[in-house]
Amino acid sequence: MFSFKVLLLILACLWISDAATDTLGQGDKLNSSDHLVSKSGNVTLGFYKQDYGETWGDKGSGYYLAMWYTQDTLNHPIWLANRDDPIADDSGVLTIDNTGLKITHAGGNPILLFSLQSTAANNIKLVLQDSGNLVLQDEDSNRLENRTLWQSFDYPTDTFLPGMKLGVSRGRNLSLTSWLTQSIPAPGAFTLEWNPVAGGLVVRLKERVLWTAGESFENILPLDPLNMNYNFTNVSNVDEQYLYYTLLIEEYTPEDRRKNARLVLLDDGSLELESRLLLFTSGTCAGDITENGCVRWEGPKCRSNGDKYEKISIRTTHKNSINNTLMGNTSLSKNDCKDICWKDCGCLGVNDQYVLGCQFLSGPYVQGGLDATSYQVIIRHRSRSKNWIWILISIAMALMIAIVLGILFYLRRRRRIRMEGKIPRTKN
Ligand SMILES: *[C@@H]1O[C@H](CO)[C@@H](O)[C@H](O)[C@H]1NC(C)=O
Ligand SMILES: *[C@@H]1O[C@H](CO)[C@@H](O)[C@H](O)[C@H]1NC(C)=O
Ligand SMILES: *[C@@H]1O[C@H](CO)[C@@H](O)[C@H](O)[C@H]1NC(C)=O
Ligand SMILES: *[C@@H]1O[C@H](CO)[C@@H](O)[C@H](O)[C@H]1NC(C)=O
Ligand SMILES: *[C@@H]1O[C@H](CO)[C@@H](O)[C@H](O)[C@H]1NC(C)=O
Ligand SMILES: *[C@@H]1O[C@H](CO)[C@@H](O)[C@H](O)[C@H]1NC(C)=O
Ligand SMILES: *[C@@H]1O[C@H](CO)[C@@H](O)[C@H](O)[C@H]1NC(C)=O
Ligand SMILES: *[C@@H]1O[C@H](CO)[C@@H](O)[C@H](O)[C@H]1NC(C)=O
Repeated sequence: MFSFKVLLLILACLWISDAATDTLGQGDKLNSSDHLVSKSGNVTLGFYKQDYGETWGDKGSGYYLAMWYTQDTLNHPIWLANRDDPIADDSGVLTIDNTGLKITHAGGNPILLFSLQSTAANNIKLVLQDSGNLVLQDEDSNRLENRTLWQSFDYPTDTFLPGMKLGVSRGRNLSLTSWLTQSIPAPGAFTLEWNPVAGGLVVRLKERVLWTAGESFENILPLDPLNMNYNFTNVSNVDEQYLYYTLLIEEYTPEDRRKNARLVLLDDGSLELESRLLLFTSGTCAGDITENGCVRWEGPKCRSNGDKYEKISIRTTHKNSINNTLMGNTSLSKNDCKDICWKDCGCLGVNDQYVLGCQFLSGPYVQGGLDATSYQVIIRHRSRSKNWIWILISIAMALMIAIVLGILFYLRRRRRIRMEGKIPRTKN
């Protein structure tokens, strides 16, 4: 009797550990109360609910199939399967059937991640690897290697993990795209790409290059802070040009940090290593700066070199000072608004207090005051040519004064000499 209990206990333990598997087979289903856990437990895959915070009075949320570090202190997923296409409730189910790898859910079409229509495969399995790669593979016993049909590393979100590729690989662009806001995973305004022609690592705000690591790439990396080193390598051949990195783990590297490695493109365009170190702060590239990798914002003719955004408290002084055409547009973040405003010669700035949607400043305003509102205002650069004019005028005036003084001195001296009569008058 006792041994039967023990057996039951062992069976229960086996069942529990079996429940946390790293593999989903054909016909298997993963619903919102299940998880996949990688072999050593480093990463977990499952459905989770993301709260969007308050936007225009709504408190929205959405369900996502996400992957996260099991010991994550930040609670920021390292990959999302459906950032463009959140599910309304917890009805999502990940499954592999004859048509492919997909997420089914109540009240909508399935989200297809990979189609099997044109693929002959025998023994398909979805495996969650410790690296954070989710791989759909064909395990054909006749082959020496598992054939990869699809992998999450080919669909990066905002997070660059050790072993991932950033760049171009077999005709595929592999770049990061920021979240729309801190709490909305939809694609936002910034991208991070590896572009050897444009100077290596590049952060863009929409199409505009904002920052490039360039040759200072090695310099922006931390020099062994708290015993963790990153080994970045760039690869270039006919098919591929990409950057990847590995961790150089030392004896004293703390356990939690071994399991939390990542480079994240934050929603404001900044680059953060391992949730601790900012490699690049997008706020430093305000338009006119060309230091530390910042690239000058180009724009229409009305924007000259040196124009830049500054955060200023202002009051508008006319009822037409404000343009509300895109206010309430929930697909636009503040950074999108700054980009739109920069390209519009009639735009003077962007209201800084809205998380989503744009309110533009387009007419007269004054600075400060009790009921002032915080705006990102485009400050016009005092052009250099005007400085030069002032310098030229000063030099000219100094010269003229010198000449006048010289003439006066000469005349006085001549008169004095004449009056003393030491020099006789010349004949003519
Ligand atoms: C997930 O499936 C299990 C059984 O396979 C079931 O007990 C559970 O209620 C399901 N969860 C949801 C949220 O549907
Ligand atoms: C998984 O975690 C272990 C223990 O911290 C670590 O040694 C290993 O490198 C991790 N594996 C991957 C692929 O990150
Ligand atoms: C195929 O993948 C499975 C599951 O990850 C693994 O156990 C097996 O060793 C792999 N086979 C080959 C030949 O790599
Ligand atoms: C990759 O990006 C580059 C530059 O943005 C573009 O010219 C190219 O067409 C893209 N390639 C693919 C396959 O999307
Ligand atoms: C890529 O690596 C090579 C050395 O391996 C280096 O000379 C080159 O500058 C690197 N390219 C970039 C864009 O950093
Ligand atoms: C960094 O990675 C490259 C390529 O994998 C390797 O050749 C090199 O030895 C590594 N550097 C260190 C310090 O481990
Ligand atoms: C929101 O802004 C985007 C980009 O400017 C535009 O395409 C879209 O039509 C706008 N939506 C609304 C409801 O104004
Ligand atoms: C302001 O509104 C007008 C239409 O009312 C529009 O044409 C213009 O582009 C708007 N400016 C900005 C910066 O959105």
